[in-house]
Amino acid sequence: MANFETIIYQKLDGVGYVTLNRPQVLNAYNLQMRDELYQVLGAINDDPEVRVAIFKGAGERAFCAGADLSEFLTAPSPVVARQARWERDVWGLFLSITKPLIAAVHGYVLGDGIEIALCCDIRLASEDAQFGLPELGLGIIPAAGGSQTLPRTVGSTRALEILLTGRWLKAEEARRLKMVNQVVPRNDLLPAAERLANKIKTYSPIAVSYAKRAITEGLDLSLEQGLELEVKLGRRISLTG
Ligand code: COA
Repeated sequence: MANFETIIYQKLDGVGYVTLNRPQVLNAYNLQMRDELYQVLGAINDDPEVRVAIFKGAGERAFCAGADLSEFLTAPSPVVARQARWERDVWGLFLSITKPLIAAVHGYVLGDGIEIALCCDIRLASEDAQFGLPELGLGIIPAAGGSQTLPRTVGSTRALEILLTGRWLKAEEARRLKMVNQVVPRNDLLPAAERLANKIKTYSPIAVSYAKRAITEGLDLSLEQGLELEVKLGRRISLTG
């Protein structure tokens, strides 16, 4: 796989590790990171050796401090800068991946940082994590799926409050609101994510991907349609098993 500048991608024993790697700017998400993330997500999807992936941030201070504001400042306006980001549907690809994705977040988790984590299936946060959506202060709205993934995760009441006020949440509150599954000490963040990944990869990859699909696709269906989806996927497993 190509050498990337803004992301480190590694594969080890069935686990793909994606590290956002611009620690000097708190792993801010720029256009190059968008393109590299797009390639990495394709690789995770297509590579049968990767059973589960972990997303993390380089450096001590942040998972990701949101969109790269220097790109915003050189564009005519944040709205125009945002348009460039829609040229590639990274978020559609992210949400379509049928393998389990684990976010292991620390420090600042802002804007795109929250949204990347929300594209993952399981979220672990270290005790120092702080979450916020500063978009409205820039005159824009979330564009990495956050306006849809956040309310589906914490409910519309909480999502509206977090977005409309720009209030930041500490890790423990994020756990209470079910934005993250677990809060762990900083030095246990990656090991805790690896324990989950190592457990998941012991299961049949087909069963794992169908379980993920049944839940994530089912959320957008009526109960009746969701039950049909479950039957359809279950039957396929019995045919292949
Ligand atoms: N885009 C580009 N650069 C960023 C950045 C971003 N979103 N967030 C931080 N950086 C850079 C800073 O410019 C600084 O660079 P410098 O050392 O060359 O001056 C470096 O990262 C460290 O950040 P700094 O602001 O000095 O750290 P801090 O601890 O004082 O503050 C934050 C941390 C996260 C509170 C602050 O950096 C911030 O508010 N960032 C912007 C968050 C944001 O609005 N994101 C966009 C969401 S849509």
